[in-house]
Amino acid sequence: MRLHVVVPAAGRGRRLGGALPKQYLPLGGRPVLDHVLARLLALDPVQLVVALAPGDERFATLAAARDPRVRSVTGGGERAESVARALAALEGVAADDWVLVHDAARPCLDPADAKRLLAAVADSPVGGLLACPVSDTLKVDDGRGRSARTLDREGLWAAQTPQVFRHQVLRRALAVCRERGIAPTDEAMAVEQLGLAPILVPGRRDNLKITVPEDLRLAEALLAGGRG
Ligand code: CTP
Ligand code: MG
Repeated sequence: MRLHVVVPAAGRGRRLGGALPKQYLPLGGRPVLDHVLARLLALDPVQLVVALAPGDERFATLAAARDPRVRSVTGGGERAESVARALAALEGVAADDWVLVHDAARPCLDPADAKRLLAAVADSPVGGLLACPVSDTLKVDDGRGRSARTLDREGLWAAQTPQVFRHQVLRRALAVCRERGIAPTDEAMAVEQLGLAPILVPGRRDNLKITVPEDLRLAEALLAGGRG
């Protein structure tokens, strides 16, 4: 099984705020993105391509950037565009090879969970993703900050990364989304546009995505506690 890795890291982290994009914030003495790359390189990929914001000068300072398997490209204005550009930069990929996509903002990923995902999709012609069944009661607001109704959470999952797909499937999926003017918020959403059903592999909630300021403290506590 040949594995290639793509990391979209071209976002600005608006919801977190602050001067530094969240992928470069220090976490336990190392930038978030350095944690992410080290965990992904532990999966032994053929290559790893990171999509960066235009003019990013911090990436080159990361320890993991010196790994010969790691390269970078300039990302796009939407996450899917960043993923598409990184995908296009992969070298020597066969149609059936696996491409694993992981957010630059999920530094607590346990490589064992990524391996579990790869094992779960091994016989699939499509691929799949880590996800957790939704446990909160879900409210829909009325547009004025009041609860208008409650969704049935039966069958709802919160999608995470990593997400792993056959190279040809992911490339076609992103192309179809572009043709249709859809900006998918994850790779599985793009693959669904092909009429294909990615496998949902139960993940762990401590694989959190740093999004708002309190997530940083949670990630710090998880890493200090030896998670991953
Ligand atoms: N991303 C990207 N290119 C974009 C937008 C996002 O590569 N044009 C990446 C981010 O860097 C992140 C991942 O996609 O690793 C998930 O996105 P998100 O958590 O939304 O990060 P940001 O877009 O940076 O944050 P925000 O939406 O709060 O601005
Ligand atoms: Mg975003």
